[in-house]
Amino acid sequence: MFRKYRNFLRGISVNRIGQVGVTLTTTAFAGFLFFEFLRLIGVLDNAYIGLITYMLFPAMFVAGLALMPLAWYRYRKQRKKSTRELLIERFDGEDIREGFFGSRVFLVILVLTMVNVLFLAGAGFRTMKFMDEAKFCGTACHSVMGPEWTAYQQSPHSRVKCVECHVGQGVDAVVSAKLNGLRQMALAMLSDYERPIPTPVHQLRPSRETCERCHWPDKFYGNRMVTLTRYDMDRNSTARYTTLQLKIDTGHTAGRGGIHWHVASDNEVRYASVDDKREEILWVDWRQQDGTYKRFENTRLKSKVNEGDYTRIRTMDCVDCHNRVTHVYEDPETAVDDRITRGLVDRSLPFLKREMLAAISDDYPSDEAGLQGIRNHLFGFYRSLDAVQGARMSDQIENAVLVAQDIYKRNIHHHMRIDWNTYPNHLGHQHDGGCFRCHNPNMRDKEGNMIRNGCTLCHSILAYNEANRFQYLYEPDKKNPNYKMHLFLRDEFLNSEQGTLKTR
Ligand code: HEC
Ligand code: HEC
Ligand code: HEC
Ligand code: HEC
Ligand code: HEC
Repeated sequence: MFRKYRNFLRGISVNRIGQVGVTLTTTAFAGFLFFEFLRLIGVLDNAYIGLITYMLFPAMFVAGLALMPLAWYRYRKQRKKSTRELLIERFDGEDIREGFFGSRVFLVILVLTMVNVLFLAGAGFRTMKFMDEAKFCGTACHSVMGPEWTAYQQSPHSRVKCVECHVGQGVDAVVSAKLNGLRQMALAMLSDYERPIPTPVHQLRPSRETCERCHWPDKFYGNRMVTLTRYDMDRNSTARYTTLQLKIDTGHTAGRGGIHWHVASDNEVRYASVDDKREEILWVDWRQQDGTYKRFENTRLKSKVNEGDYTRIRTMDCVDCHNRVTHVYEDPETAVDDRITRGLVDRSLPFLKREMLAAISDDYPSDEAGLQGIRNHLFGFYRSLDAVQGARMSDQIENAVLVAQDIYKRNIHHHMRIDWNTYPNHLGHQHDGGCFRCHNPNMRDKEGNMIRNGCTLCHSILAYNEANRFQYLYEPDKKNPNYKMHLFLRDEFLNSEQGTLKTR
């Protein structure tokens, strides 16, 4: 069999082109099998080798195949003989004698063609699968996707593949995503892309096809309690607590509306924004039971913006609030507070919060300068502070340096021009963004009613920068200037109906 194949190869390597063709196909075939084997036994999992295995080899293979008929065609032209005469010349009589199923050469070609088709189908399938892996998306174009990959690995979705959110289901989704991907890859190679990558991402599929395969609105009921711990800038980095009871109900049951009401299966909220950034909202429509829409218009913008100035009307879905669901960049203060809360740094270092924050928020010209600057800042500060007696705390200081550098590496990416707050988070209401894009007093319907925005619409407040996590549940202190507010917040929480009916 091997001899036959060798004869055959010799037969079709009629000239340079033929030889190149044969070499290409054979190398690609063997190389693919070799790397695929290494990957299967787990020796290899590097995305660049993946690029070679799954993109370069199949491409070489096809190119090689294409060269063979071309070679034969040129050969025939040069020799000015018919195919039959040439065949007799190249192969020995045995091989081209007409048998029952055609000549041996014909049979070898048939078998090889079948092998080729099978190989290409298999390789194609593996290529598609490989391109679906988060590691490929995250590291093949390393410098471009670096920031997203870093943030992703520390997010609640670090086990969810990129394509589950970015491509979704269905042939058309996959095809358009792959074409788009090829174009992006070409642009990445030419360094022709925007830095930072602009958001919102308009190609995202509707979340019904992505998020809702794993989470679905009818499943959101009840409340979610969050305690945010902040630290003061004082010597002890004193802790302060804010506790919110978030009302995340979908609100099917009459009168118990909550945050996921916007995406309830029988509800629709749509809006138009000034530009495609989705930051400044012109009007919001809320579908009523009879199918008409109730509109709230932004009274501040109404006179300034013409109907023609906006193009897109968007139906609200998960991503309008959860835009930072997996690529979570932090702001410097939250990041430091978070690391202290998680016990990654030793809070007994004097002024730890203040100094870490100062060290990471300085304006550094490059990633390397940042890391060095953080080290210099912290060591510089603690060396000059008498209270820390020389080497005694140096382990803790060294550790604080490493943690601060980690925060910097995760959030700052000079080559992509990503800085603190490059990508605003819409989940809360920092800087009047997020929920307050709509829930603000400027949004009025025809009768002049506004979209509700009272502080307890979305959450009960059980502590707001207090020394105690549940400050407002205690008997309020009559002498406290905020006595009335504490009383109000406590009663609001205790009487809140939301989420009290948990069904199973
Ligand atoms: C849980 C769903 C989910 C997963 C998993 C996910 N993404 Fe995203 N990604 C999003 C959403 C939602 C946005 C849109 C943000 C917007 O429009 O404001 C986004 C935006 C992006 C952006 C635009 C820039 C930015 O930071 O917003 C890039 C690039 C990106 N994703 C790459 C990736 C890569 C690479 C992976 C895998 C390593 C990945 N994504 C995994 C949901 C996801
Ligand atoms: C393939 C399944 C899958 C898909 C698709 C998916 N998620 Fe998730 N999601 C998860 C898992 C698993 C968790 C982690 C659950 C946990 O930590 O308890 C999670 C957690 C979350 C959380 C809670 C995060 C937190 O801080 O605790 C939110 C919010 C969320 N997902 C929203 C989304 C949104 C929005 C999308 C679409 C852009 C999406 N998910 C797509 C599986 C998925
Ligand atoms: C695109 C506009 C828009 C955005 C952004 C938005 N909302 Fe709303 N929301 C509305 C409209 C419109 C209503 C209905 C009017 C009303 O209840 O006053 C509403 C109602 C609500 C309700 C009451 C639901 C009910 O059943 O009565 C809650 C709670 C709520 N929103 C929370 C939030 C939270 C939390 C955010 C941010 C994470 C947010 N909203 C962002 C438009 C928006
Ligand atoms: C109006 C804004 C808004 C929309 C729209 C929205 N969410 Fe949420 N979601 C929130 C808020 C706010 C929370 C609470 C966040 C927190 O815990 O910090 C939340 C919490 C969650 C959680 C965690 C729930 C838990 O029990 O801990 C999941 C999962 C989630 N959302 C998924 C989704 C999905 C999927 C969609 C689309 C079908 C969606 N959300 C649409 C605002 C929204
Ligand atoms: C439209 C819904 C909505 C309204 C109205 C609203 N909030 Fe919030 N608030 C949220 C959401 C969502 C978060 C984010 C929770 C999280 O980070 O998990 C939040 C977060 C907070 C936080 C913690 C922020 C931080 O990082 O320290 C405080 C404090 C707070 N709200 C107070 C208020 C006060 C005071 C009002 C009234 C002026 C108010 N909220 C009105 C939805 C709302």
